[in-house]
Amino acid sequence: MCGIVGCIGAENAYSILIKGLHRLEYRGYDSAGVALLNDNGELNVYKSRGKVNDLERFCESKDCSGSLGIAHTRWATHGEPNDVNAHPHCCQNGTLALVHNGTIENYAVLREALEQHGCSFRSETDTEVLVQLIGYIKQSSGCSTLEALREALQQVVGAYAVALVDREQPDCLYAARKSSPLVIGIGDGATFLGSDASPLVEFTDKVVYLKDNEIAIISRSEPLKVITNDNTPGKVDIKTLKMSVSQLEKGGYPHFMLKEIFEQPDTLHDCIRGRIVDGKVLLSGVRDNEEVFRSARRIIIVACGTSWHAGLIGKRLFLDLARIPVEVEYASEFRYSNPVVNRGDIVVAISQSGETADTLAALQIARERGAFAYGVCNVVGSSIARETDSGTYIHVGPEIGVASTKAFTGQVTVLAMLALAVGQLRGTVSAEQVKEIAASIKALPGIIRTTLKLNDSIRHLSGIYTYVHNFLYLGRGVNFPTALEGALKLKEISYIHAEGYPAAEMKHGPIALIDNELPTVFIAPMDDLHEKVISNIQQVKARGGSVIAIVTEGDETIATMADHTLEIPRVPECLSPVVSAIPLQLLAYHIAVMKGRDVDMPRNLAKSVTVE
Ligand code: G6P
Repeated sequence: MCGIVGCIGAENAYSILIKGLHRLEYRGYDSAGVALLNDNGELNVYKSRGKVNDLERFCESKDCSGSLGIAHTRWATHGEPNDVNAHPHCCQNGTLALVHNGTIENYAVLREALEQHGCSFRSETDTEVLVQLIGYIKQSSGCSTLEALREALQQVVGAYAVALVDREQPDCLYAARKSSPLVIGIGDGATFLGSDASPLVEFTDKVVYLKDNEIAIISRSEPLKVITNDNTPGKVDIKTLKMSVSQLEKGGYPHFMLKEIFEQPDTLHDCIRGRIVDGKVLLSGVRDNEEVFRSARRIIIVACGTSWHAGLIGKRLFLDLARIPVEVEYASEFRYSNPVVNRGDIVVAISQSGETADTLAALQIARERGAFAYGVCNVVGSSIARETDSGTYIHVGPEIGVASTKAFTGQVTVLAMLALAVGQLRGTVSAEQVKEIAASIKALPGIIRTTLKLNDSIRHLSGIYTYVHNFLYLGRGVNFPTALEGALKLKEISYIHAEGYPAAEMKHGPIALIDNELPTVFIAPMDDLHEKVISNIQQVKARGGSVIAIVTEGDETIATMADHTLEIPRVPECLSPVVSAIPLQLLAYHIAVMKGRDVDMPRNLAKSVTVE
């Protein structure tokens, strides 16, 4: 949700900033901009509606020299995406330029007060309010830019990550954060800034994750300095980054999404590595907190989007394997629900990015009320990972495509291992069961490799359904959330309306929709509810609906009823969502490609939602 890049000390800051914006484009892509301070002391600001490529075209004929600059790719919150509302924004006299990720909630009040003091606004954004406020404080009190920034940040309510350039301070760049992420990369003679580490990875592996309420003073000649908003010195905690450039590139695939779908045998291998030993699950997060899990009274799962679907699957796994009551909440609802949370509760926050604002807030509330906080994140060192008592990373590598694929299968795999590890500890699963499921988890990478062979037939199938306007996805038990996820994938990237339902609920409403124009995707592996799902398929067929069924290999019964079957390998029921997700991802992908959609950057969406 908006990407920030900054750079000081590199010879050609512009090229670094543009490259960084491309890396962060998954966070927002409706407009982009850059501010560069050149050797003549001029602060050049260029902005353009559209993607980073549009900005580059706009900049072709401009002076883009300078070794200090900031840049931004936007996901609009205040004001439509256009050139004027794009960042950077400047203060009244044009000496300060600022980029911002987040929302300033009290911007309207501040704007009114600033207008009364003579500030005139060019844009509709909350960001311009912040930079005008900094400029106003600086001018009216005669204080330094740093002081004015500190003072302004104390006056704003909301979330922010900002980078600020002062034309009169060519040797310095400021950055600050509250609830929105910022990473500083310390290179050789140059320092870099990013909303995540992807713009920095080419230049350094030494990074500092800025914490909430901290301001970084990034100087050309002096070591990095951090202070808090109330002016106490902060700690510069340098970490080593474990990310490679190749992980951030498409590697010959036409889209990141397809690359990420096909990476899943490897990403699951990384996710499982070292965690299943001698037929048992070993998770350090559980091992280090045995008493917490042994005596847990309840698990509350908080998440958003795809991660919430993984959470629903996690619920079934915890109930079956660890016999602990579980609630799964949309983080955005939970945070405003005055939740009852007690000591003995464990809150599990699931988040690919580890930065989703609602999930972070829900986690903080549950923690304040006494819950033990456990994270299931992908991005190492992310805010959620840092704000939990313990956790398990899914380790699937950077996910760039906006529609989540490999993170989903990694999350479900980690939740299966977690439920099994807790079940082992609590004695709610037999040694036999552990051994069987653990062996199947270990076999998942190979099973996914086999499942990916469906790609060609799914591409062919997608051609038949490209111009359909609605889809229904049905599944039962552990595969009801898989149906939700399949429907979400399709609507996110193809813009076809799709709904997921528990198959048995069909008769309470959705059945009214069924006719020969509404295809239904059934997730129907051979499990305890197989017979029941077969009845649901018959009900659809009896009403003239067409059926695409994801079935266990060798399922001849459904093959005789469905219009199309996609066979997946047999796995224990608790792991079937990991496998059945693959054809659903491929179906959504190919339909979207055939419709000519921008698969990796679908309209209106962003990968990392750091605003409410
Ligand atoms: C956005 C993304 C989804 C993602 C959700 C939660 O909506 O587009 O793909 O599932 O945020 O993100 P998280 O990083 O917390 O898993």
